[in-house]
Amino acid sequence: MINTDELRDRARATLDPAAWQYLAGTAGASETADRDALAWHAFDLVPRFLRGLASVDTAARIGADELSTPVMVAATAAHRLAHPDAEIATAAGASAAGALMVYSSSATLEVGEFARSVTGPWWAQVYLMRDRERTRDYLRRVVAAGASALVLTVDYVGVTGTARFGSATSTPLPVRPGNYPGLSWPEMTAGIEPDLTIDDIDWVATQTGLPVWVKGVLHPADAALLAARGVAGIIVSNHGRRQLDGVLPTAHALGPVVSAVAGRVPVLVDGGIRSGADVARALALGAAGVGIGRPVLWALAAGGAAGVELLLRGLTTDLRQVMASLGAASVAGLTPDLLRRRSD
Ligand SMILES: Cc1cc2nc3c(=O)[nH]c(=O)nc-3n(C[C@H](O)[C@H](O)[C@H](O)COP(=O)(O)O)c2cc1C
Repeated sequence: MINTDELRDRARATLDPAAWQYLAGTAGASETADRDALAWHAFDLVPRFLRGLASVDTAARIGADELSTPVMVAATAAHRLAHPDAEIATAAGASAAGALMVYSSSATLEVGEFARSVTGPWWAQVYLMRDRERTRDYLRRVVAAGASALVLTVDYVGVTGTARFGSATSTPLPVRPGNYPGLSWPEMTAGIEPDLTIDDIDWVATQTGLPVWVKGVLHPADAALLAARGVAGIIVSNHGRRQLDGVLPTAHALGPVVSAVAGRVPVLVDGGIRSGADVARALALGAAGVGIGRPVLWALAAGGAAGVELLLRGLTTDLRQVMASLGAASVAGLTPDLLRRRSD
């Protein structure tokens, strides 16, 4: 079984302290990202037996992409902080494991350069910049580079929480943004538009013609609004607790969001997913796929592309075993009745 704690400790030992602080940071002094991971454990697994499981298939459809696993790489910035081969190494590991990668607009490699070396499926994340011309230019390059969908992140409101985290995100990192020539790291983060409206989604869609998934949704009313608006899909995420101290763990946001969209659009989730059992929990609550954030960066730091492949394959193998134990032959067989929420 994959042990992400071990991976985290190896990464911490490998990385320089400033890089580690950037990757590990959360918005609050009181909480670490572990709170999201622990929340998944509130759902006990209730196995079914006697179902004659001849085989177990982890194949998943995420948007238009047919994949061999529902485990995805969540969009994370600055992979060069973790490894010199940066986002190209992550993509190589993801594609070897059959996993979809979401490329971050805050990548250290420019999107065209990234895409030239990528063989697997990938989507592009986008932050709307205050200077729309920068976003227009990025989106033009994303389309030319061949992304199959966009992920618009809507939960960045420009607040960096504690002074410690603020200084981790605004300190000039020893890397430069790949997609915004001329901007330093703090200039790029300061350039993200904090004042988004629902009409901005249409603006992004018309710039590209690509399906737009909206990332950072936690409230069921927002989910219902987005489903009615006809977005391609919704990503339940609290940005790895990097935006708001005390924010609801995604394990508890997912079920109400799935109910609110009532099957109109697919739902993905990320935050604290650390094991095959967590993946199974998320799918049983109605997610079509799950994003992995920090553990991918830890794997990248510890082992480059091979490390990322090992992590994603390991989570998929562990998922297959959990599915067998639960009596689920396919991801569609992971249903809410296989979970019981503890009251303690
Ligand atoms: C170092 C780091 C950088 C991130 N950069 C981005 C980003 O550029 N765009 C984005 O939408 N989300 C970003 N995220 C949030 C992730 O996409 C994801 O929501 C979160 O990491 C999932 O939680 P996990 O780290 O517990 O798996 C980042 C997260 C981390 C840890």
